[in-house]
Amino acid sequence: MTDTLQDIRTDFETRLETLDREEDLRQVKADFIGKKGRVTLMMKELKSLTPEEKRQAGPALNQLKNHIESALQEKAHELKSRASKNRAGAFDLTLPGRKSTTGHLHPVTQVMEELIGIFSGMGFNVEEGPQIESDYYNFEALNIPKDHPARDMQDTFYIGDKVLRTHTSPVQIHVMERQPPPLRIIAPGKVYRCDSDVSHTPMFHQIEGLMVDHNVKFSDLKGVIETFLKEVFGANVKVRFRPSFFPFTCPSAEVDIQCVMCTGSGCRTCGQTGWLEILGAGMVDPAVFGFVDYDPEEWSGFAFGLGIERIAMLKFGINDIRLYFENDIRFLHQF
Ligand code: PHE
Repeated sequence: MTDTLQDIRTDFETRLETLDREEDLRQVKADFIGKKGRVTLMMKELKSLTPEEKRQAGPALNQLKNHIESALQEKAHELKSRASKNRAGAFDLTLPGRKSTTGHLHPVTQVMEELIGIFSGMGFNVEEGPQIESDYYNFEALNIPKDHPARDMQDTFYIGDKVLRTHTSPVQIHVMERQPPPLRIIAPGKVYRCDSDVSHTPMFHQIEGLMVDHNVKFSDLKGVIETFLKEVFGANVKVRFRPSFFPFTCPSAEVDIQCVMCTGSGCRTCGQTGWLEILGAGMVDPAVFGFVDYDPEEWSGFAFGLGIERIAMLKFGINDIRLYFENDIRFLHQF
């Protein structure tokens, strides 16, 4: 029996020596201490020996089994650390790197920042107001009383007794309430209307402008608007002011530019008119000054409001406003 134990030990050492794959390790383990392994079988044979023989062979067999177990464990460790070293060595510096894709500002944000930059250059400060407004700021203080038909043009979303603002004009009121004239501000931001088609989304962006000072005249409004539109659409852009109506300005105007698609000859974008409506504007109605305690005898001002998506569509040649808000990366990546 001692002989055989010695044989097993030698065989085991030889196999362990030459082994260098994990699956070989498993095989060696099975062959020696697995269910039908040589050591296991000998342990079973012990039962048929005399007590005297058992006392001799037992401890030797146990010792062999322990030896095999710990030798296998050590080998397993060795294989594992060798494998991870190999993996590190397999790192190939010459492979091209994996590029992480960087995003960029949304096209509407890009245009908004450009427009803000132009007005900042003319001395307008940026102000903000809440998107959830009271009826007072969105309508009443802008000289749009309850039941006035002008409210129909701007049907909106109601949250209890609040509204999602339909335009950025309420910021005019907030600013005039908290600061005395003179002032020159713009207010960019989101606005909401119950509208949805190729040229309307329920949420869109506007920039409001307001200037109040001594002696502000309609010609000042014209100068600011024309300068602005030339910056955006180029020095050759043709601008026209059309009489219009807003309850909070008087006189009021709508401002058009000559169609950038057909340069005035008439096309689908401009509805064959040759002109594109760009913004609403006018001289601040004295009634509005009344709501904020500005003296209309001493101060005068102009205001304007423009849609950012509209301008971005013309700049980028986009014919469906809804594309901006579908979050299709293939579309957004192009700007
Ligand atoms: N608030 C108006 C609108 O959204 C635009 C406007 C602003 C008109 C300021 C005149 C003066 O239609």
